Amino acid sequence: MRYLIAALAMAGILSGVPAFAADEPITIKFSHVVAENTPKGKGALKFKELAESRLAGRVEVEVFPNAQLYGDNKVLEALLLGDVQLAAPSLSKFKRYTKKLQLFDLPFLFADIDAVDRFQKSAVGRDLLNATSERGLQGLGYWHNGMKQLSANIPLKAPGDAAGLKFRIQASDVIAAQFEALDATPLKKPFSEVFILLQTKGIDGQENTWSNIYSKKFFEVQDYITESDHGLVDYMVVTSVEFWQGLPDDVREILAQCIDEASDYANQVALEKAIGDRAKILQSGRSEIIQLSPAERRNWIDAMKPVWAEFEDEIGADLIAAAQTAN
Ligand code: LMR
Repeated sequence: MRYLIAALAMAGILSGVPAFAADEPITIKFSHVVAENTPKGKGALKFKELAESRLAGRVEVEVFPNAQLYGDNKVLEALLLGDVQLAAPSLSKFKRYTKKLQLFDLPFLFADIDAVDRFQKSAVGRDLLNATSERGLQGLGYWHNGMKQLSANIPLKAPGDAAGLKFRIQASDVIAAQFEALDATPLKKPFSEVFILLQTKGIDGQENTWSNIYSKKFFEVQDYITESDHGLVDYMVVTSVEFWQGLPDDVREILAQCIDEASDYANQVALEKAIGDRAKILQSGRSEIIQLSPAERRNWIDAMKPVWAEFEDEIGADLIAAAQTAN
């Protein structure tokens, strides 16, 4: 009996945590939706390189880009089921697990990506990595992509220009409210469908970062991009609590260091892509980049910012105030 109990415990059946065979490497599947040549794509590959060199023979990392394995609508469930072990969905995609991360979707909350960085590194920001842990998902770090721009098949200079248009959005109620405030129609669709929806005119526009607009060729099927910097696409690198706690202590510690180093790397790539991919789009001549004067930008702020009040209770006024101090 003693042996049976020991065997069951080793197999994780009694303890509820996965046991890892000592003589076989632990496989970590990392699923994401963007191209490889993006901050997240490169960050995932950097993590693989670091983890496999520091834990040679003990860990194997398989990276699946471009929603090859799971789209963002399914990946969090897949983590909980143990079908993948790492993902980095945008902070806009956690609403089924916590309302707090909706903070990052509030339009015009952060002045720029440096402010985002300061907030994420603050005690309050770090604490938000635990916002989904009661639901079985553990945040391990933040990765930047960058500030969002608005694109459409007509020029968007004033907020009223967006009225009546259909915009693809991520699965976020805050972003839906942001477009409703413009009298536009938001449609929640997976990232993998955006290009085809734009190409077939199933939607009129979308919002995303320079890196995503470039790497997924949205600029080839959108005539105008308004440089609005009105919001953020950033990521939470996430694993399941069960997988993470079930790892041998030394492996967990080294993997956490690898995530931290991959985060610094991905964030550096994000800064470079925000400038470099914008320049490539400009150079292509396929899409006109519309720059807003300070007064024009003020009009967008006035139109979108009322959304904050709608979500203040769900997010928490303290959290919103803490984020603003990073500006
Ligand atoms: C989107 O769905 O537009 C983004 O979250 C995709 C991504 O992962 O950058």
